[in-house]
Amino acid sequence: MDEIIVSIPTKVTLFGEHAVVYGKPAIATTIPVFIEISGVLIREPVLTINMRNPIHMYIESISIDRTTNKLNVSTDRKHVEQLIRYMVTALEICEDDLKTDKRYGYVININSDLPPGIGLGTSAAISVGTITLCELLNNGMTIDSIEKSKERIAYLAWKTEQRVQGMASPMDTFTITFGGLRYIDPTTLQAKPIDINKEINILVGATERKYTTAELVRRVRMLKEKNPLLIDSIMSGIGYVVSEAYKALIDGDWDYLGMLMNINHGFLEALGIVDEKHSNIIHILRKMGALGAKTSGAGGGGAFIALARSYEDLNTIELVAKALGAHVVAKKIHRDGVTA
Ligand code: MEV
Repeated sequence: MDEIIVSIPTKVTLFGEHAVVYGKPAIATTIPVFIEISGVLIREPVLTINMRNPIHMYIESISIDRTTNKLNVSTDRKHVEQLIRYMVTALEICEDDLKTDKRYGYVININSDLPPGIGLGTSAAISVGTITLCELLNNGMTIDSIEKSKERIAYLAWKTEQRVQGMASPMDTFTITFGGLRYIDPTTLQAKPIDINKEINILVGATERKYTTAELVRRVRMLKEKNPLLIDSIMSGIGYVVSEAYKALIDGDWDYLGMLMNINHGFLEALGIVDEKHSNIIHILRKMGALGAKTSGAGGGGAFIALARSYEDLNTIELVAKALGAHVVAKKIHRDGVTA
């Protein structure tokens, strides 16, 4: 069978991370930064994963015996090991769903330019990409029929994240599958597109990330178990910010949107998941003209976003972010989701 190539955009959360795990809505978008996964089916029960990252200079090759599915990973990179876990789990979930013969194996190549463990929904991108690849290789799904299968791809990728992380909202997997700017309601599994009719100048940056999403989600859960009333009221506050941000996006009210970003960041600091150095960058970007700036995603460093009034202001913010040691990952949002 021919090799299948799947291209998966990464994503940023504009509003509502962590609270979305507890049923509150969130707003997220894909960005034009991609991971590519390609693969073939083989007759031996072996899964071989080759990870290639030319910019960050590593190549990692791992083989797993599928009869035992034992994860024999000899890598000392926590984030690489974590990505393999998502991939193995996604294949299991897809094959159980399709009732395929697990004696077959795969050779899968992952190409990415991103620093490992940067955030940006990379675990969801790997889950969505692996489910899409598995469906294309095993289910006779054609590239043209991907659009019609997106509900199912998003759902199975979400189940993958839940199994690996223990807790996960559908935000990352649904945004990456469908693509574009979306309002996610985790209680109904709706990822509604948001149509804006004004250019939005958003800088996506990142700093080193020290914890996995699973660890950070667990940290918030422990805080909530200790003081449910207090943490529930923070989650409700974030939920309200999301509903206001939705209106500000529709109205093109970027001053208000920026203010809401700052408030959302404050709530995330209150949850104790924001890295101090990362937060300092966010505060400096605001002083240097950003209308608003916040951490984006699970926290512990990782991704941040900053909103600018104009493209010129965005360029200034980019220079400042780089001078402060952050990676600049994207300066615009993307319209599409997973493609093959
Ligand atoms: C991670 O990108 C976002 C979190 O809200 C977790 C989730 O939604 O599953 C922290």
